[in-house]
Amino acid sequence: MHITVVGTGYVGLVTGAALADFGLNVSCVDSDRRKIEMLSSGTVPFYETGLEELVHRNLRNGRLTFTTDLEEAVRASLTVFIAVGTPDLPDGTPDLGQVDSVVDALAGCMDDYKVIVTKSTVPVGTARRIQGLLTKKQRRPVEFDVVSNPEFLREGSAVQDFMRPNRVVIGADSDNAVAIVKEIYRPLYLNETPFVITSLETAELIKYACNAFLATKVSFINEMANLCEKVGADILQVARAMGLDNRIGPKFLHPGPGFGGSCFPKDLVALARTGRQLKAPQRLAETVIEINQRQRERVFSWIEGELGGLKRKKIGVLGLAFKPDTDDIRGAPAIHICRKLLEAGALIQAYDPAAMANSRKVLNDKNVVYCPDAYAAAAGVDALWIATEWNEFRNINLARIKSVMQAPVLFDSRNLFDPEKVRALAFRYFGTGRPGPLH
Ligand SMILES: NC(=O)c1ccc[n+]([C@@H]2O[C@H](COP(=O)([O-])OP(=O)(O)OC[C@H]3O[C@@H](n4cnc5c(N)ncnc54)[C@H](O)[C@@H]3O)[C@@H](O)[C@H]2O)c1
Repeated sequence: MHITVVGTGYVGLVTGAALADFGLNVSCVDSDRRKIEMLSSGTVPFYETGLEELVHRNLRNGRLTFTTDLEEAVRASLTVFIAVGTPDLPDGTPDLGQVDSVVDALAGCMDDYKVIVTKSTVPVGTARRIQGLLTKKQRRPVEFDVVSNPEFLREGSAVQDFMRPNRVVIGADSDNAVAIVKEIYRPLYLNETPFVITSLETAELIKYACNAFLATKVSFINEMANLCEKVGADILQVARAMGLDNRIGPKFLHPGPGFGGSCFPKDLVALARTGRQLKAPQRLAETVIEINQRQRERVFSWIEGELGGLKRKKIGVLGLAFKPDTDDIRGAPAIHICRKLLEAGALIQAYDPAAMANSRKVLNDKNVVYCPDAYAAAAGVDALWIATEWNEFRNINLARIKSVMQAPVLFDSRNLFDPEKVRALAFRYFGTGRPGPLH
């Protein structure tokens, strides 16, 4: 079967390369010509474990191609996956401009039956709206079906997540379209991956419900961490004991500077907005958004308070990506907090194993120095702040770090270190929700 995937970002490229690996012929389309040129020559334009190898293998075997020509790709395909971006507008509304421009282009070039699959995260009702738009704008009337197939992969483990998902959700009106999409995912079906076959609206809402629930877990544990600091309790033990309860589970119970990324923040805002519009207020989602914003501000106040002001203070920052194993800085707490530190007059020395090139584009400030490693970032600083839990930071030599710092102050937002051990090295150490000096 030949399929088209429109959008070669984190979701589209993983989808395209993985489906080619399943044995399908895949055309990946993007409007960004430079990206397509890079991909055609085997260069993956962002960092994602295992993706380059997957792309190379399927380029070599001829099942994966890259093009800017949507019309030609669609003509050869039975199924078209839409995996373009759906960022939020300043007022929090999801910007469906990229989706709509793909739909317009499809309406102009569909010349026989097609299954149009939305993989992008889109507000409930979007698939049905796409049905209407295609019907109205088709250049010549051909049959088609629209399917909602939300994606749950996580950046950093996207290939693995796509290849071994917890479930595949397929929302559709038509049995024929469901059968075609199931056939595409047949290798997973044989692996006994659960399939949830449902309506368009339910599929769309499942995605928002999952992200809102996971974000709620993060905000819950952050609030508990804040309480731990006041009562002298240890959040890591609270979280561990909670997670050992099968009804709760250990995932997403790690306190820190608040969640970020290109999905949770925007999806929560979109869900809250849908709730308000439809008079089914999503009070929990609204509160989680607020807690998350406060958590970021808290980190800033924490550093500012402990250092007694920030003017001309030199801060080492370890980690800029919104999470480890990715170069993605969209919505990253580190970037938001660095901006605030800079506004308050601080000087930053930053190091991230993968996200410095992207950071330079948004934190292009003479007061930020990008460093080749953690030790260089710590050299001469008044405090070191661990913002992202990259594995390599767990193994840094703290004695060496201390020897190069101006003052041995360590803010460990991700609780990478044992407070006792770090304090034994005569650091002033602050973890999130750990026993020790109150903050
Ligand atoms: N990133 C994630 O972890 C993740 C996980 C699950 C779901 N999602 C959802 O998947 C969608 C895509 O996310 P992403 O992170 O891959 O986005 P992205 O911004 O990384 O990629 C989007 C791509 O679409 C291309 N594009 C835009 N308009 C186009 C057009 N008209 N024609 C062809 N190409 C076009 C862009 O050039 C870009 O390469 C979003 O809705 C997101 O919410 C993302």
